[in-house]
Amino acid sequence: MSQNVLVVGGAGYIGSHCVRQLVLHGHKPVIVDNLSFGHREAVPSELPFYSCDLGDMNAMKEIIRKEEIDLVMHFAAFAYVGESVEKPLKYYFNNLVATLNLLKIMVENGVKKFVFSSTCATYGVPPSLPITEDMPQQPINPYGQTKLDVENALKAIAHAHGLSSASFRYFNAAGAAGYGSLGEDHDPETHLIPLVFQAVLGQRENIRIFGTDYDTPDGTCLRDYIHVNDLSRAHIAAFDKLEKPGQTLFYNLGTGTPASVREVIDTVARVTGKDVPVVETGRRAGDPPALYADSSKARSELGWELQYPDLEGIVETAWRWHKAHPRGFGK
Ligand SMILES: NC(=O)c1ccc[n+]([C@@H]2O[C@H](COP(=O)([O-])OP(=O)(O)OC[C@H]3O[C@@H](n4cnc5c(N)ncnc54)[C@H](O)[C@@H]3O)[C@@H](O)[C@H]2O)c1
Repeated sequence: MSQNVLVVGGAGYIGSHCVRQLVLHGHKPVIVDNLSFGHREAVPSELPFYSCDLGDMNAMKEIIRKEEIDLVMHFAAFAYVGESVEKPLKYYFNNLVATLNLLKIMVENGVKKFVFSSTCATYGVPPSLPITEDMPQQPINPYGQTKLDVENALKAIAHAHGLSSASFRYFNAAGAAGYGSLGEDHDPETHLIPLVFQAVLGQRENIRIFGTDYDTPDGTCLRDYIHVNDLSRAHIAAFDKLEKPGQTLFYNLGTGTPASVREVIDTVARVTGKDVPVVETGRRAGDPPALYADSSKARSELGWELQYPDLEGIVETAWRWHKAHPRGFGK
């Protein structure tokens, strides 16, 4: 059944890919974004777009009523781990307080379905690998804590008000929509794959490897890179489950096949056919040696399958975007 879906943060990287998937699946996205990090060009011009801050409760209430919203997908957040340590209040207000305001408006206006961007950062340093949903969640920075706080609030709100939600704990989102017209453009950029492309394109002198002496096969950190379209399809696959009131669902989203920093760099070199200038430096504080997901719960409960199971396929899609848009959107 087609749904009117409010996509908060829909001009950002993952949100804009989800908007495209919603359209492909016959839903009607309505986008809210304050463009603090997002790009107007990332959203098709024919779709309803509100340049609005999530914290503006009156405006949000009006949009939800006017657009007769059935379901809210919430991508808007600040997501720089280091900054969250320096400026925790900024993160608590945007990621937690503004989200609680949104949930309040939803409850007051009878909108009972919610999809939330959570993160593997809620786990902190896991006791074992791969990470399953029932492992202890002990975030080691305010960013991860704000996401866990929202997850916990969702349980209480489901119990009291019948709100149904699916929270997706993403590992490392990567890649770009297949046709190369949509992709990742963060400023500042902190994600490894786009940083390596910047080195390939001569926009940075080199790529730094933080730590080569970890207890991993090649000594560099292992992470789980998942294609942004695979993430988006999982969100939509959860819609049916949200029809039942009072659900609180949690799913890891990763490929489960980790790649080391060196493997990512080698893959980019292979896909682009260019050398990547590399500088090896010491470990960075707070980087766990390895993080990768067990996503079998999403597969078995949502019938979700990966379309991009291997890193090379993911990097190829990202390269199409970066090659065509070396300076990102509208630049
Ligand atoms: N990118 C990843 O690898 C990753 C991993 C785990 C979790 N996440 C989570 O996924 C979500 C999306 O990540 P992304 O990489 O697409 O980030 P992004 O910065 O590209 O997108 C977030 C969007 O939200 C908007 N926004 C932020 N605060 C807002 C506010 N107060 N009002 C209105 N709009 C606001 C920004 O302008 C931006 O367009 C975030 O919640 C992030 O924490 C991302």
